[in-house]
Amino acid sequence: MTSPRGSYFIKTWGCQMNVQDEQKMASLLQDEGYTPTTSAEHADVILLNTCSVREKSEEKLFDFLGRLKNLKTKSPQTVIGVTGCVAQQEGEAVIKRAGHVDLVMGPRRIGRLPELLTQARTRSAVTRSGIVDTALDDLSAIFWDGGRGVRSGAMAYLTIMEGCNMGCAFCIVPRTRGREVHRPMAQIVEEARRRVGQGILEIELLGQTVNAYRDGRKAFHHLLEAVAIIPGLKRLRFTSSHPAFFTANTAAAMAAHETICPHLHLPVQSGSDAVLKAMRRGHGIADYFRRLEDLRRRIPGVAISTDLMVGFPGETEQDFQATLDLLRQARFSQVYAFKYSPRPGTTAATTCDDDVPESLKGRRLTQLFALQEEISLEENQQLVGRTLPVLLAGPSRRDASVASGRTPCNRVVNVHGARLEEDMGRIMMARITAAHRHSLSAKPAI
Ligand code: SAM
Ligand code: F3S
Repeated sequence: MTSPRGSYFIKTWGCQMNVQDEQKMASLLQDEGYTPTTSAEHADVILLNTCSVREKSEEKLFDFLGRLKNLKTKSPQTVIGVTGCVAQQEGEAVIKRAGHVDLVMGPRRIGRLPELLTQARTRSAVTRSGIVDTALDDLSAIFWDGGRGVRSGAMAYLTIMEGCNMGCAFCIVPRTRGREVHRPMAQIVEEARRRVGQGILEIELLGQTVNAYRDGRKAFHHLLEAVAIIPGLKRLRFTSSHPAFFTANTAAAMAAHETICPHLHLPVQSGSDAVLKAMRRGHGIADYFRRLEDLRRRIPGVAISTDLMVGFPGETEQDFQATLDLLRQARFSQVYAFKYSPRPGTTAATTCDDDVPESLKGRRLTQLFALQEEISLEENQQLVGRTLPVLLAGPSRRDASVASGRTPCNRVVNVHGARLEEDMGRIMMARITAAHRHSLSAKPAI
């Protein structure tokens, strides 16, 4: 059945923040009478929700837009919109490069989506030119709670802050998401309580530097504690933390509340102090390890994951070896690693040459992943035979007939024997039967 407004299709790239933005846009469109469709070809509105953190992510947008050109020629009334960080960063330039785009909307304008779509429709029918709205001054839209909300299982993201005040030399985020704005604590706790009332079991608090959160005299650990004690909430997570703001108080809150998952994502970027300094990260390796050790002393078995980059300008073989040493010593549960990619307007791109050859970046990345995979496998093997609670979220990526979920320490577990429909959204006790590099296999524990 088609709705009077028509259907929409949203394609999202990038981080959890973008995933939550997609959920907000979907909710707004559904409130306006649009219905979702899984095929861009059949949609009346196509939204491409983008990431600009690396050049490759940006290229994905233009590849996708290229494929939509024929579709727009065949059905000119289809509205094509570009949202997210590329929209914010490139603005008008998106339309210059892809003239079939009707709307370019920055992340802080999400609340105006229905209105902008109507404008884009009218304008492109008359003048055939798209509209651009990338203003950064609208806070209501970012902290708007998603209306009735699009439920996706038993987990919910909750944005507590937007933007970033750090100036990491490589990073485009402060330019695309703006300066930090923090949502009032009472509002966050209220929304969390409402979500739990709707049946949500796990909440993940989101922010670019989530642990830099403040509301007057209240710091991040106060917020964590206030959400952790909401009756009915089973799991609380947060991402991404910045090492410079990771306090002993936060570590203590994590240890004190069973609801706060024993997992911390703490991006380190490099194992070399010289590179960290050039990156302007605001912390060194010794500070980083002090925090890790403190947390591990308080919560034995806590899982720590990180982000790393290879090939930052000036990175020597010795610097890279220091990153491998860091992996051996830190024993992360999971690592997200990237080749440095110069981004327009960032300090690194404007003041340094991208002097590590692409082929060497590639070799370093392969070597890094090979080492980490050995470590992840060894860490996972220690869990074989244990019974762990798994929040089942959907079918496994590899085998759609097997149910998959996560442990409190954020490991992916494929539970053979769990029921795909009935058990989804439940926390099931599962006995770990095998360890792999990126996941665990388990059976329901009876
Ligand atoms: N807010 C987070 C933090 O404090 O580190 C990360 C934000 S960023 C969206 C996610 C990851 O992308 C970073 O941790 C970094 O490893 C990687 N990244 C950011 N800029 C990059 C660039 N120019 N080239 C390659 N990787 C990059
Ligand atoms: Fe980017 Fe550094 Fe902020 S990685 S998001 S500028 S903490």
